[in-house]
Order: sequence, then C-alpha cells, then structure tokens
Amino acid sequence: MSTTPKTDARTDPGRLPMTLPRLAEKKRLHEPIVMVTAYDFPTGQIADAAGVDVVLVGDSGAEVVLGHSSTVAVTIAEMLMLTAATRRGVANALLVADLPFGSYEASDEEAIRTAQRFVKEAGADAVKLEGGGPAMIARVRAITSAGVPVMGHVGLTPQTATALGGRRAQGRTAERALEVAREALSLEQAGAFAIVFEAIPAAVAAELTSALQIPVIGIGAGSDTDGQVLVLHDLLGVYPGRAPRFAKQYTDLRSQMLTAVGEYAAEVRDRRFPAPEHTFSIDPEELARFVALLGRGGDDRSRRS
Ligand code: KIV
Repeated sequence: MSTTPKTDARTDPGRLPMTLPRLAEKKRLHEPIVMVTAYDFPTGQIADAAGVDVVLVGDSGAEVVLGHSSTVAVTIAEMLMLTAATRRGVANALLVADLPFGSYEASDEEAIRTAQRFVKEAGADAVKLEGGGPAMIARVRAITSAGVPVMGHVGLTPQTATALGGRRAQGRTAERALEVAREALSLEQAGAFAIVFEAIPAAVAAELTSALQIPVIGIGAGSDTDGQVLVLHDLLGVYPGRAPRFAKQYTDLRSQMLTAVGEYAAEVRDRRFPAPEHTFSIDPEELARFVALLGRGGDDRSRRS
C-alpha cells in the first residue's frame, strides 16, 4: 500500500497552521507529532506540502548543507539566511530555528538578542537551544520571558559533543538518566514548549515522556515519545557522510541525483541536449537578413538609402 500523501497539504483547505496550543493538544490526544529539518525554500516547501507538524532549521545544516564536519562552525548570519529561505517555503508547519553554538550561552541578554533576530529577521516561530544545565535554564527563562517560544534539546547535544565524550548515547546509567530527567523537568519549568530527546534509551525516554507535560520529540529515543524528528538529508539519502544508526533512510536521492546529472553531462557531450523542444526558432527570412547583416559587419545603411 502506498503511503504517499494524496494531496498537497499546503493547499488542503482543512489544514490549520500549527500553533503551540495545537502541539500541546497533540500530546494530550496521543497523536504523534512529526518534525523534520529543512534548510532552504524547496526543502521547506516539500516538508510543508508533506504535512509535517514542525519544520526545524537545524544547525545540522552546518554539516549536511554547508559541508562542515560538525555543527559548531555555523554562524548566526548563515543560520538566519537558511531560516529566512525556509520560512518562504513553509506556510502551515511551526517553524523552529536552531540557535547556533556561541550565539546564546554567554548571557541572558545575548540569548534574547539572538533569539529575537531569528523571529524578526528570518520569520521563525520559535527557537531551539541545546542543554539543560543551570545556565541554559536561565537562558530559556529569559528568552521565553522576552516573548520567543523555546524548544529544549537534551541527551546527545551535538554542539557540546566533545564535552560529552563524543557523539554517543546519553542516560545509559541510572545516574546519567536522572541527569537527563532533571534537565528536561527544569526546561519544562523554565517555560520550554517542547523538548528534543536525542540518543537516549527508549525506556528512559518513555518514562520521561509521561512525566513531562510538554511534548517530547525523539531522535534515537525510541517510539514512545510524543513525536519524532529526522534530519531531512538522512531521510532522503542525500548526504554522502555516515548517517547516525538511529536515522532511517527512506530513499536514495543521492543516487537519483547522480544519475540525472550524469545523464545531462552525457547528453551535452554527445549533443543530444538541447533538443528542438528546448530551442527557440527564428523566421527564416529574418535569419537570412541577419546573416547578411552580420556579413557586412552589422552595417544596415543599404536598407535606409
Ligand atoms: O540540528 C538538528 O538537525 C537537530 C535535530 C537532530 C533535532 O537538532
């Protein structure tokens, strides 16, 4: 049975724009929340047309779009540009932008200023930041008090992966799981409207999902969270690098893209492209006149005399 959506969700008259209360309602009704990353106009449009609930302009774009080896290198200016482009493609999903590493940690003032730029300059509905220690709890409180909704992110936090000992699953002992729990509960108390759980044991994620009032979106956190998020380029099979074990690849778009560009190159080289249908014509008389004019160095005086 095909699972392809029959309608373009952007033009579905019954579809309402996603709001924070609707997201909370989904948790209450046990309706799974679908979140995916996007980084530009076409991918934003595709995610929205497919009917996802939340589009995240993730700082994973540093790797899958900008070619860096980690997320830490991406700048505010780059994330603003990616978010603004995605905004132009997203009509109904809630648009969340990742605050880049180094743009919010130093002080509450810096965090508010950066978060507000994402709303004012790029059109984000909300921002996401990583971590749940005391400093980050203060930042979440400050940003939400300044009127910008915040999504938290705990477990494996790629911006500080070096400090965590690498990109590895978190919360795998009772004490470490309790640490994740404390961070998540503190984020909720600080006003976060949802939390991403990345790479934590499914059973820990399940316990915490029922303990929290706000929606939990999992990635590598099992199937009992309130929703799931995937990096679009992992899902589509576009990224040439190694995808994490918890990512599922739904298609191999990279092979299809390679084939298409390869066919184009071959057709150009053996002059099969462009074909007549890709070509503009000119009236034969006009062409003859043009050739004659060209022969005379473009001098048209004979016609005028
Ligand atoms: O940057 C990102 O794509 C993310 C998701 C993995 C949640 O933070």
